[in-house]
Amino acid sequence: MIENGSESLYGINPNFRLKEALKSIQKNHSDAKFIVITGDLTDNASSKAYEILSENIKNSLIPVYMILGNHDKRDVFNNCFPDFIDNGFCQYIKKVDNTVHIFLDTLVEDKPYGELCSSRMKWLKKRLDEFSEDFVYLYMHHHPISSGLYEMDNMADFKSTKEFWSLLKNYKNVKHISFGHLHRVMHSSKQNISLHSTRSTTFQVAYKPDTKTEYLTNEEHPTYAVIDIIEEGNTRIHHHEFMNEDRFFLGDY
Ligand SMILES: [Fe+2]
Repeated sequence: MIENGSESLYGINPNFRLKEALKSIQKNHSDAKFIVITGDLTDNASSKAYEILSENIKNSLIPVYMILGNHDKRDVFNNCFPDFIDNGFCQYIKKVDNTVHIFLDTLVEDKPYGELCSSRMKWLKKRLDEFSEDFVYLYMHHHPISSGLYEMDNMADFKSTKEFWSLLKNYKNVKHISFGHLHRVMHSSKQNISLHSTRSTTFQVAYKPDTKTEYLTNEEHPTYAVIDIIEEGNTRIHHHEFMNEDRFFLGDY
């Protein structure tokens, strides 16, 4: 397979889109503390694909943190990005002011669904105990809440939902969960914790809640989410359509 970054996925060039997203973030949000890529990081988990990703993010002036999606592979990722793996999993924390950001690894290799096995769940509990005085933000690939989309909730779902929410019941300081995987803008809440996903930089998943047989993708404009942490650790989120960002006109209100 030839990979040079010019390949298309459903007619879209992911490499070009990622470059545009990073350019836009630098131009419009240069004060961001960090960027999170919530996965999938690649489509086929090849070394070359991770190298192309690495080339893209190495010049970012804003630190870029990554978590793995169901299309990724830990060992190949680790060869290219050795600083993210802890105890065999891509899980780590970053503390910024009085907020702790916890990055989770929900990958079950070669499966569309995800989980937090007992070892990863133990790791999360330890981190939550350690930072019980801080505001906590969680980042994960799979959605820990139903999406209303049949395939995503039955074949590509997060299998540890019950244990996950029962653990979180004990920590009132968890404020928000950001997840990937859905390729859609979705907001939800559970146990006083807000959740969101934003669109992919490549293709999107169509909102067809009645469809039980097909996984339908579409070409809604790609977005990244701009998360501001406002008073008491709460969030304000804007979804930025970076391929459309210069099309201004004067509005009347
Ligand atoms: Fe995914």
